[in-house]
Amino acid sequence: MHYLITGGAGFIGTHLTKRLLEKGQQVSILDNLTTGRAERLTELNANVIVGCVTDRELVSRLVAASDYIIHLACIVGVRLAMHKGIETLKISYLGTENLLEAATLHQKEIFIASSSAIYGKISQLSVTEKDDSLLGASSKASWLYSVGKLVEEHLSLAYFRERGTKIKIGRFFNVIGCYQTDSYGMVVPNFVRQALKGSPLTVYEDGSQTRTFGYIEDILDGVELITASGAHGQIYNLGGFEEISILELALKIKSLTSSASPIEFIPYAAAFGSNFEETRKRVPNISRLRQLGYSPRYSLDNALREIIAHHTLCKN
Ligand SMILES: NC(=O)c1ccc[n+]([C@@H]2O[C@H](COP(=O)([O-])OP(=O)(O)OC[C@H]3O[C@@H](n4cnc5c(N)ncnc54)[C@H](O)[C@@H]3O)[C@@H](O)[C@H]2O)c1
Repeated sequence: MHYLITGGAGFIGTHLTKRLLEKGQQVSILDNLTTGRAERLTELNANVIVGCVTDRELVSRLVAASDYIIHLACIVGVRLAMHKGIETLKISYLGTENLLEAATLHQKEIFIASSSAIYGKISQLSVTEKDDSLLGASSKASWLYSVGKLVEEHLSLAYFRERGTKIKIGRFFNVIGCYQTDSYGMVVPNFVRQALKGSPLTVYEDGSQTRTFGYIEDILDGVELITASGAHGQIYNLGGFEEISILELALKIKSLTSSASPIEFIPYAAAFGSNFEETRKRVPNISRLRQLGYSPRYSLDNALREIIAHHTLCKN
């Protein structure tokens, strides 16, 4: 099978490429290298095409030459997207449309990477795929990433309904693993770097906001189950199963690294300006994925141990 992975030079894409190549699959990557890095893929002997998903002709050619498309390309994360709003929405709409149009024309299947960010402010015990989105005002740029992902979901579902395009959507919750950069505010690589350096662990607000963290190897098991499943037009939550507050996470990483770093509390407004709003709680209900046979193998502690060992080895 020949996979085309857009955004394949990024964190999730690099791990997915490695796994697929190890299984003897063929992989081509389309990435404009804005946040992705080509070096690791070159080491894996992957076929990297440097280009943008908004390039319609290029996308059509690459889709025609592949069997399955995994669409990961995106300006990732609330904080990056809020400063690159035009590009974020352009990639979400034009890039996804190019891929869906080509997948329809050439009759290829496509997996769309969405995000738990689409649930917005919803803070119930755990969210299911059927729950509502509750986004803040458009004057708050921190909702831009959520809107971009909702555009991708709606467009994909419309292609499924109106054109019969074979789509599946994976809603990733926080994914963690080695090679994840700390450059764009991702909390786990940030805390690990800070703890290993002995600098303060920066916790936003009082740290009582809660999340789950899915380890990359488990998440890729989920992606494999979804892509292999029979039903199209389906959405799956894809995330960790242990809820933890950000303060507890900071303390856990401090303890696992035996770090003497202090904890520093920073108000959102001081870090990101008054335009910033975030959800208090984000926990997935993963029953639908479990029905496909999903069974995560890594506890949060074990996942963090792997990541800390990797950071220590790379000295970053
Ligand atoms: N990592 C997470 O915790 C998480 C959570 C929710 C959703 N997701 C989704 O998973 C996908 C992958 O995320 P990631 O963590 O690997 O992020 P990442 O930033 O590491 O990877 C994104 C990749 O897309 C590339 N890219 C950006 N714009 C592009 C364009 N116009 N054309 C081609 N390539 C482009 C970047 O260079 C990068 O390599 C994204 O769609 C993201 O929204 C990730």
